[in-house]
Amino acid sequence: MSRRIITTENLEEDKKIENHLRPQKLEDYIGQQKAKETLKVYIEAAKERGEPLDHVLFYGPPGLGKTTLAGIIANEMNVNFKITSGPAIEKPGEIAAILNNLQEGDVLFVDEIHRLNRQVEEVLYPAMEDFAIDIMIGKGSSARSIRLDLPRFTLVGATTRAGMLTAPLRDRFGVVHRLEFYTVEELQTILLRSASVLGVEIQEKGALELAKRSRGTPRLANRLLKRVRDFAQVKYDGVITAEVADYALDLLDVDRYGLDHIDRNILLTIIQKFQGGPVGLETLAASIGEDAGTIEDVYEPYLLKNGFIQRTPRGRVVTELSYRHLGISVENE
Ligand code: ADE
Repeated sequence: MSRRIITTENLEEDKKIENHLRPQKLEDYIGQQKAKETLKVYIEAAKERGEPLDHVLFYGPPGLGKTTLAGIIANEMNVNFKITSGPAIEKPGEIAAILNNLQEGDVLFVDEIHRLNRQVEEVLYPAMEDFAIDIMIGKGSSARSIRLDLPRFTLVGATTRAGMLTAPLRDRFGVVHRLEFYTVEELQTILLRSASVLGVEIQEKGALELAKRSRGTPRLANRLLKRVRDFAQVKYDGVITAEVADYALDLLDVDRYGLDHIDRNILLTIIQKFQGGPVGLETLAASIGEDAGTIEDVYEPYLLKNGFIQRTPRGRVVTELSYRHLGISVENE
């Protein structure tokens, strides 16, 4: 059987390149050592038994490789990879149709799985547990439900917010992995690999500079690589050196720690409008005109991890590192 990858979306250019750069095999995947090692064992064991892999949940900030790992699982298991997302499935009938069209062993990837609505989620429970769905036939007093058997499949769910999954859904995943931010060395290796796939000439030090400023996130590293490549091509002789990377990243408003203008705006707002905090998430969000969920999922994890802010029971506070990084003296504020 030939493998198929089925997506429900039209891909724009950046996405296409991102897909092109995704490693296809576990051995080519850099970082997330723990997830990688355990998945390798589970995949091998499932293959030996001739069974599909248990359902897998990946959670963590965006851009850390959830979709990539799901694709690798399908590839390593030698099955089809079907991609959809929580908000794309509106009705129970839609998820029933997707499930019914799967083939034995297929991987169904559901991105943003915390955004599935309740009725759709309820179709998933028996599907995940017993590989069956219950369909209602008829109306009123003659209504009855019949059970439809499904092929055995693997659901791979991804979410930036594990806390927003309902307990019954979370409990049906046999394997749960939190994806971590990448180290600078890992990102440097990923960048060197991506540059070679794209045919871009890059020096080790150029890759290091990019890696340091990519917020621990491969998706961002690869995006910055493409932007910096343009500068290298137009302003220099095409080679990404540390100097080119430095110049381009400054122009792109990405600072030494990889913070962008929204990150800095978050820190500055807490300092200037809330005396360094504590400030509640909603108040902060309203104050900078960003969505609270986006701050919590996209911006905050990196700022927390790197010690720019702290979470306290009364809200977010900035640390001394933020003052120093922004060149503001604590006393003045
Ligand atoms: N490209 C994007 N993420 C990657 C990873 N974790 N390993 C290798 N290449 C990648």
